[in-house]
Amino acid sequence: MTAPVKTSALMARGAAFLGTEHAILCGAMSWVSERNLVAAISNAGGFGVIACGAMTPELLDAEIAGTKALTARPFGVNLITMHPQLFDLIAVCARHGVGHVVLAGGIPPKGSVEAIKDFGAKVLVFAPTLALAKKLLRSGADALVIEGSEAGGHIGPVSTSVLAQEFLPALAEDHVVFVAGGIGRGEMIASYLEMGASGVQLGTRFACASESIAHPAFKQAFFRANARDAIASVQVDPRLPVIPVRALKNKGTEEFTAKQVEVARLLDQGTVDMAAAQLEIEHFWAGALRRAVIDGDVERGSIMAGQSVGMVTKEEPVTAIIAQLLAESEAALNARG
Ligand SMILES: Cc1cc2nc3c(=O)[nH]c(=O)nc-3n(C[C@H](O)[C@H](O)[C@H](O)COP(=O)(O)O)c2cc1C
Repeated sequence: MTAPVKTSALMARGAAFLGTEHAILCGAMSWVSERNLVAAISNAGGFGVIACGAMTPELLDAEIAGTKALTARPFGVNLITMHPQLFDLIAVCARHGVGHVVLAGGIPPKGSVEAIKDFGAKVLVFAPTLALAKKLLRSGADALVIEGSEAGGHIGPVSTSVLAQEFLPALAEDHVVFVAGGIGRGEMIASYLEMGASGVQLGTRFACASESIAHPAFKQAFFRANARDAIASVQVDPRLPVIPVRALKNKGTEEFTAKQVEVARLLDQGTVDMAAAQLEIEHFWAGALRRAVIDGDVERGSIMAGQSVGMVTKEEPVTAIIAQLLAESEAALNARG
């Protein structure tokens, strides 16, 4: 492949921030983003991110050590802000000298950004609104990921194209902003870079790479699916602020609707409070995703996938995926003269 000179120039700031060759992150995917995929992404010049999800500190410790055994290049760790042992997980990252921590799943709790910066790591955050993004950047976050509703997994209500128009002109000059959600090809990467993004984050496109440990049945479901099969879950009860999840439609998505009705009934009965109800919902997803990714139960498990799933047609090594994305981006930029 000829060097993607123009793409690399537009990615320079993001690549310097990540310490990588290319400013392409593979977003953390619970159960999928473990040592093998993370190391493969980083070894290919991208930036892998371990999905801590519901892991205990001991498991995260082992996963970071395992990843370090497979790559000497930089990688990050994604921590979910509502994890009850968040600060213990941060301490594990500190012990390993992790360079970048991504805080996902809500507004970072008091002291968490500081605790990460204290051991010298950079903090990446998600922000659903421009006002909140500015606040988080003011209070110490080093970079932002904006993720649109095209993405796989937990999603917000606004599309990537609209978020990009709202956030990039306002923030990209002074801040490192990565764009995520619905990116399947390099032409799209070129466009976001031209709008000022420092880099991009993809999940769906990497989930079925040869190095991904996802079950063959999970991968086959991706290869068969079209964009319209990756649907967002619906909220059944307005009191239950369920974060929508984008996944391939199957029996599991129907069971989620039933689960919400069940949890809403427990709320009515006063058997659980709102926080416990939300946690119950999150546990449902974690369990369902594991069933699909690890056990290959693509009927009743949750096959989280973004709308770019239609562009995932075969199993190929991470190096080939990244090379293709860069070539497409470069060709698009060259065509502009
Ligand atoms: C199977 C799957 C699991 C995911 N799990 C997580 C997660 O645990 N934490 C997180 O912050 N994002 C998670 N995501 C979102 C990805 O990190 C990434 O931001 C997203 O996939 C980007 O959009 P795309 O799917 O359109 O490429 C997940 C996505 C998928 C497809």
